[in-house]
Amino acid sequence: MSNSFYITSPIYYPNAAPHVGTAYTTIICDVVSRYKRIKGYDVSFMTGVDEHGQKIQEAAEKNGFTPQQWVDKMSLNFTTLWEKLNISNTDYLRTTQERHIESVREIVKRVNEKGDIYRGEYVGKYSVSEETFVPENQLVDGKYMGKEVIDVKEVSYFFRLSKYEDALLKHIEENPDFIKPESKKNEVVAFIKQGLQDLSISRTTFDWGIPLELEKGHVIYVWFDALTVYLTGAGFKKDEKEFGEIWSNGKVTHVIGKDILRFHAIIWPAMLMSAGIKLPDTVAAHGWWTVEGEKMSKSLGNVVNPEEEVKKYGLDAFRYYLMREATFGQDADYSKKAMIQRINSDLANDLGNLLNRTIGMQKKYFNSEVILNKVEDKYDIEIKDLWEKTVEDLDIHMNEFQFSEALKDIWKFIGRMNKYIDECEPWNLAKDGSKKDRLSTVMYNLVDSLYKISMLIYPFMPDTAEKIVRQLGLNIDFNTLKLEDIRKWGSYPAGNKLDEAVPLFPRIEIEPENKKDYNENLHIENPITINDFNKVEIKVVEIIKAEKIKDADKLLKFIVDTGTEKRQIVSGIAKWYPDEKELIGKKVTAVLNLEPVTLKGELSQGMLLTTTEKKKIRLIEISKEVKTGSIVK
Ligand code: MSP
Repeated sequence: MSNSFYITSPIYYPNAAPHVGTAYTTIICDVVSRYKRIKGYDVSFMTGVDEHGQKIQEAAEKNGFTPQQWVDKMSLNFTTLWEKLNISNTDYLRTTQERHIESVREIVKRVNEKGDIYRGEYVGKYSVSEETFVPENQLVDGKYMGKEVIDVKEVSYFFRLSKYEDALLKHIEENPDFIKPESKKNEVVAFIKQGLQDLSISRTTFDWGIPLELEKGHVIYVWFDALTVYLTGAGFKKDEKEFGEIWSNGKVTHVIGKDILRFHAIIWPAMLMSAGIKLPDTVAAHGWWTVEGEKMSKSLGNVVNPEEEVKKYGLDAFRYYLMREATFGQDADYSKKAMIQRINSDLANDLGNLLNRTIGMQKKYFNSEVILNKVEDKYDIEIKDLWEKTVEDLDIHMNEFQFSEALKDIWKFIGRMNKYIDECEPWNLAKDGSKKDRLSTVMYNLVDSLYKISMLIYPFMPDTAEKIVRQLGLNIDFNTLKLEDIRKWGSYPAGNKLDEAVPLFPRIEIEPENKKDYNENLHIENPITINDFNKVEIKVVEIIKAEKIKDADKLLKFIVDTGTEKRQIVSGIAKWYPDEKELIGKKVTAVLNLEPVTLKGELSQGMLLTTTEKKKIRLIEISKEVKTGSIVK
């Protein structure tokens, strides 16, 4: 075994801009890379873009570019973002690069020599958006993953995937680390057991791809091309020695999203078995991010842009949130409220306060000088024991990709150190001259713990780790420092002086929910314009006379003063006003430009306006002060 640890992200389609999901995958790879480096591994970390295929060709044409110009331009979105997210990749691979084309040719050659490629005819459905041929049994309402599929019938070359069913099941069974987490492994096994179909690996209907040397006019179907990128990144075909160290004798880990697990845990290992190449050690599949409880999608307009989030909250807070919030393998929800809570409580409060209090007290009691005097008590033993346990637990969780748990381990230790301050009460020790040595020991332990904490958080928050050690008065390069170097208690150089305290994470005030008191998107049934409304003449009228109508028990007739004349109005409210005389003298509202009608032999020259409350009809009464004849608008 070499000391090499090789980790890869998927290579992303450059058609779409990177978002929080792609950022998450890449940040995971970065966190693992940095962790493995401080553990002493030689880490290679490859990310890149998947530049061939029909979708890219179509997008290029639509935007007026050649495919190559298009991918040259789009690929920059990724390199720029990875730099901004502090991604420490050692390689950035593009499938249009010559070194990759060479390695794809080599793989096809080997698989073909093994007799695993044959010429056939593909008849069936193809999903352009997912770049995959779709077996009938995976169609739902004629669609694949909710997207249209097209009928295709063409000569195609096939890879004998079905031949590897048993070998794949055996490999998965014998290598418990091959698929992570466990739940995903069960999914893959169930899928293989349903039976695998041979895989079409060439296309003739577009030409933006690596030509298949077996027959003119065929280009290699994207997944055979894309997956091989992992070999290219390890020096396959280019440098045998490097490839031996990185791939054949090193640890190989692919980090992917759950959407592409089958390609990585079935097709890819089968290709490698056929080509006689060692299989990756681990394929780790994470879940998907939703946004404020909803699926993230362009059409919903809720795609989270990592750059904007970094501007709002800061890079390390963003990285911390993603890694802390999601349980690896399961879906997680990206929410502003949860983000602010994490920043305020975990980062500003727990971590920030520990650093601030420590630096402040060291300055006050020892003029910032860190002195080692060993006057121990039981709390010291407890914190040292917990430190050992933290490093061990963290390692287990990191190796299992359980990042959220790993961070909880670190925060448990941070919480313990905050408690240590309260238990040891340095402010009381400082009052008693005979306890000076104990005070310096307590303070030393606090400083040493922060030095250690900076090392543990470094993979997750590299800038913050740097800031902490600077404030601790150290000039440390995390690229060379190893976890082992600081593991022993007492690794902080005694006699050193701390620097000034600068807050790491300012608290974010939670703005009062900016929710409107009304529904902005209210649907108005049959809307009218203001001109329509102005056609209606409504005025305040005074009731002068009120009488029942013979043979019409529902109706009352009124004489009203409109301010300009007297009118008769008939109204169907008799039931609600058994004593109609009480209405005399009241001011109410009436529509005055309705066409006159005759009701039960009585002329009605308007309509009194009413409301209905709990099925009871009432006239709309107006205060007596309002002048008769006032217009209601
Ligand atoms: N080009 C292929 C991969 C080839 S690898 C040999 C591809 N590219 S992609 O651009 O569609 O990226 C897919 C990856 O993006 C997912 O596997 C996942 O890592 C990430 N994510 C995309 N949307 C995501 C979420 N909403 N949440 C989390 N990750 C998501 O497939």
